[in-house]
Amino acid sequence: MSGSAWQDRILQPDTALERMKQKAALRALEEVRDGMKLGLGTGSTARYFVDGLGAQVAEGLAVVCVPTSEATREQAESLGIKLAPLDELKRLDLTVDGADELDDALRLIKGGGGALLREKIVAAASDKMIVIADDSKKVATLGAFDLPVEVNMFSHGATAAAIADALAATGNQGAINLRGDDSPFITDGGHYIYDCALGAINDPEALAQALLNVPGVVEHGLFLGYATTAVLAGKDRLEEVGSL
Ligand code: A5P
Repeated sequence: MSGSAWQDRILQPDTALERMKQKAALRALEEVRDGMKLGLGTGSTARYFVDGLGAQVAEGLAVVCVPTSEATREQAESLGIKLAPLDELKRLDLTVDGADELDDALRLIKGGGGALLREKIVAAASDKMIVIADDSKKVATLGAFDLPVEVNMFSHGATAAAIADALAATGNQGAINLRGDDSPFITDGGHYIYDCALGAINDPEALAQALLNVPGVVEHGLFLGYATTAVLAGKDRLEEVGSL
């Protein structure tokens, strides 16, 4: 949008890192067009995108959106962004979301904020997915960030043991920790998360499949084949991986 004061309405980050996140988010916002159906990501970077979108909606931009978490729903509602169920919209033009790690092939680890299940459902329903992040998230090999695995609460200890087997069968190893320990973190979907400290992930595609084969695993944080573009903000530059 041009000729309006939407920029005056947006958050004013007070650290270099936060400014980088906002820079990536606002670059993605340039891809939004009137009438689009959008997926809204979750996390501290996606928050800047939703904030900017809200400022443009206040100036007349017409979009309809699906939030990937209750936190994002609350933020979007507070900004007057129109929301609709994915069941109703069926397909989305674009999802913009953060990531915990990404590699050159636009493979991602997500779920640090615990919203991986809805994030993946929404990404899968989107024609395009732009990942926004500061450039520290780009890695040569995925896995320094613990891989989140969302599990059903029922017999989750047995599920964790089966996850360990799936890791071993795909040449991966590392501690598997229930997020929150004694007071476990509960996802928007009412599940637990195990974080797998793998260091470096061997064969992400094989691991993704093996984890989904474990009864009790609801979803995992490997997003393979979803992202079409990444916008990575450094202190002085923006890097775009893939085409916008
Ligand atoms: C939420 O579950 C995550 O997938 C986030 O999108 C991801 O952790 C990135 O979050 P930040 O932008 O806060 O780093």
